[in-house]
Parts: sequence; structure tokens; C-alpha cells
Amino acid sequence: MLVSAAEMLKKAKAGHYAVGQFNINNLEWTKAILQTAQELNSPVILGVSEGAGKYMCGYKTVVGMVNGMLEEMNITVPVALHLDHGSYEHCYKCLEAGFSSIMFDGSHYPIEENVAKTTELVKAAHDKGVSIEAEVGAIGGEEDGVIGMGECADPEECKKIADLGVDFLAAGIGNIHGKYPANWKGLSFETLDAVQKKTGDMPLVLHGGTGIPADMIKKAISLGVAKINVNTECQLSFTAATRKYIEEGKDQQGKGYDPRKVLAPGFEAIKATVKEKMELFGSVGKA
Ligand code: 13P
Repeated sequence: MLVSAAEMLKKAKAGHYAVGQFNINNLEWTKAILQTAQELNSPVILGVSEGAGKYMCGYKTVVGMVNGMLEEMNITVPVALHLDHGSYEHCYKCLEAGFSSIMFDGSHYPIEENVAKTTELVKAAHDKGVSIEAEVGAIGGEEDGVIGMGECADPEECKKIADLGVDFLAAGIGNIHGKYPANWKGLSFETLDAVQKKTGDMPLVLHGGTGIPADMIKKAISLGVAKINVNTECQLSFTAATRKYIEEGKDQQGKGYDPRKVLAPGFEAIKATVKEKMELFGSVGKA
């Protein structure tokens, strides 16, 4: 059964580790992540962007697929199904479809409007036992065609949004989605420290987990980050493994054209990436 992410992240913050949010795109992605979480006895959050939700034929399809897998694969570790960077409308769609967690990304609204919409959505989510993430300070990079620059959140604004009753909070600290450019200045630990001081026990979320060096990840966790989002890195490892299979001509040997064979190396590559991240984040054995 899907669970809200509130409990697992409270535990993670108190235990000084982070739970990975891995974004899903299809059946192979979802199966690879769930299998790895179960093997490592780790809690996990499956992230679904609006674009990926549309690609997978809508949120109801996603909920059906994930619930089916939890049962048929005998998954016993805590799993949350989370809307990633949701708009106001899509938060409601996911609440209706059976997601166990949502993110309302109101970071582009003026703070008053972010406050009003977040307040309303906190109630709607909690009425259903669903956890909710909010964002302050836009996360840079490109996601679903929207490009933003990495901002640093205002700690006062973080406190304001945290006090609305959200379960966990994404604060921009110079992180961006996708690959980091060569001239990236790194995470702003000063901002993170200030945000944690203002928000206390609130589990903080680090978006743009791809390509952040291990020492920065560890430092971020020590300063209150309890959820780390990874998307691009699984895409890169999946695609590299798939390319290798084709370039080696394996699809032209025997029944190598069978899609179950074509997608197998990419599937294993996602598992390896997820395992590496769970070990780095410290969530192994914490289910
Ligand atoms: P990356 O694609 O950079 O790993 O970021 C993922 C993310 O933050 C999803 O919200």
C-alpha cells in the first residue's frame, strides 16, 4: 500500500539521512526503482512530473501500475507516489487519482498567492492523509520545457510557508535540474543553514540531485536535507546502457530484438544508479 511521505521524512531528518525521490517514466523505471528499494530495505519516493504523468496516459494509469506492482512484487518497504512540481490544478488531479504525496510548486507566484494556494492545498491533502511539499525560491535548469535560474530562497519566506503546515519544504540553494554547468558555484550552505535555523524540524528537500558531488550531498544532509530528488542521472545511465546494446549489435543477434531484451541493460543501469544513490543518501536498511 502506498504511504504518505511525511513519516518517512520525519524519521530521515531525525536520523540524519535522506530518502531518494526517483522520477519514473514507464514500467521498467518503476519496477527497477521498487526492486532496488526492496533489495536494500530502503524507503523510497516515486516522483511523477506533469509531463511524465501525461506520457504514462494520466495519473490514474500511474496509480494503477504502481499499486499493482506493490502487490505483485511483494513490496514491503514504505513507498510514496509523489507529484513532482505540481501546478494548483494538477495537485487536485493527483489527490483524486490516489497519489499519496503531492508537491505544489507555487514558487513563481508572489509570496501572498503562494501562501493562499498552499494553505488551501495543505488542507485538501491532509484531509486525505496525503503529504504535501512546497517550494520557495525557484529551482533552476530545465524541466518539462520550463527553464529557470537557480535561486537562493529567502529564509523568512521559507518560515512563512513552513508554518502553513506543509510536510516538507524545497528551498532553492543554488541547485538546478539537469546537468550542472562547468562554471556552477556549488550549493549555498549558508542559505541552507539559515533556512534550517528558521524552519527547525521541517524536513528539507534538495532538488536537482543529478551531478551534485558526494561531499556536498553529505553536507546538505547534515544541514537538514531529508529528501533528495534524482531524475536526469537515471535517464543518462538508462540511455548509455541502451546505446551500448545497440552499438554492439546485440539487437541483431538471435532474438535480441525482443523489447524485453533491448530494455534489460537500461533496467539494470537504473538499478545500479538507484543503489548508488541510496547508499550515498544513507537510506539503506532504514525501511
Ligand atoms: P535532476 O533531473 O537534476 O536529477 O533533478 C530531479 C528533480 O529535482 C526533480 O524534481
